[in-house]
Amino acid sequence: MLVVGASSGIGRAVGLQAAALGARVVFAARRTERLSEAVAAAGVGAGASAVVCDVRDPEACERAVAEAVDALGGLDAVVYATAVDTLVPIAEASAEVWLNTLSTNVVGASLVVRAALPHLRRSKGRVALISASSTGRPLPAMGVYATSKAALEELVRAWRSEHRDVAFTSVRIGMTLGTEVYASWDPEVLAAVSPQWGAEGYLLDNGPDTMEVDEAASAVVAALTVPVCLRDLTVTASPRA
Ligand SMILES: NC(=O)c1ccc[n+]([C@@H]2O[C@H](COP(=O)([O-])OP(=O)(O)OC[C@H]3O[C@@H](n4cnc5c(N)ncnc54)[C@H](OP(=O)(O)O)[C@@H]3O)[C@@H](O)[C@H]2O)c1
Repeated sequence: MLVVGASSGIGRAVGLQAAALGARVVFAARRTERLSEAVAAAGVGAGASAVVCDVRDPEACERAVAEAVDALGGLDAVVYATAVDTLVPIAEASAEVWLNTLSTNVVGASLVVRAALPHLRRSKGRVALISASSTGRPLPAMGVYATSKAALEELVRAWRSEHRDVAFTSVRIGMTLGTEVYASWDPEVLAAVSPQWGAEGYLLDNGPDTMEVDEAASAVVAALTVPVCLRDLTVTASPRA
């Protein structure tokens, strides 16, 4: 399988869990060292490998899929875990932020699926694309990100309607710790909006608690391994004692 966005966070954990179950995994993202570390963590003998890919570059998406197919001899599954999440009030979001977010979170997803399609049709394969449980009720200052995730979910429906021989799953993930998606957040913007997130119930809408990265990843692996197609999942923490 190919996991795009596998150098950190949930994508990396999906790759490692799948490898532990016996899948041969190609880890793809931009940061070479982090990819090598993930391949090493999968363990000698797991048959894992890495492909460097910036999904904003259409040719890089095609190359990543071609290299994965070469390495694996085909493709049974693709996971798209790639995303950027700029914390910015919507009135302040520049064209650059919009274009970077949409090309990373939406357009890249479609380009990867397009390149993988012939291989997935051959294998009757599966695709899991990671969205967010906050889609539909955007947290203040996360409107650009939420818009991209709403578009990603519509993209999944569009692919599904035209290609019924491939199983497409949207996995809406709730708040998850141990990832790097928050690394770009401006602390001043966070301090300004986070009281509103708590007071107006935005945080609780995304689960009774935060998840650990391995918990979130386990839902994606489940979607790829159950004998049926889970079309749309929302994954949050279990209520804790
Ligand atoms: N953590 C949460 O609370 C949460 C909640 C809801 C949904 N999600 C979703 O879960 C998914 C995984 O996020 P995460 O939390 O695990 O964050 P993360 O640790 O930041 O992972 C994001 C991945 O995307 C890759 N990426 C970013 N830009 C890229 C580009 N231009 N080309 C190729 N790869 C790129 C990053 O690798 P490089 O930088 O090496 O390229 C990294 O591997 C995302 O879709 C995110 O929206 C997360």
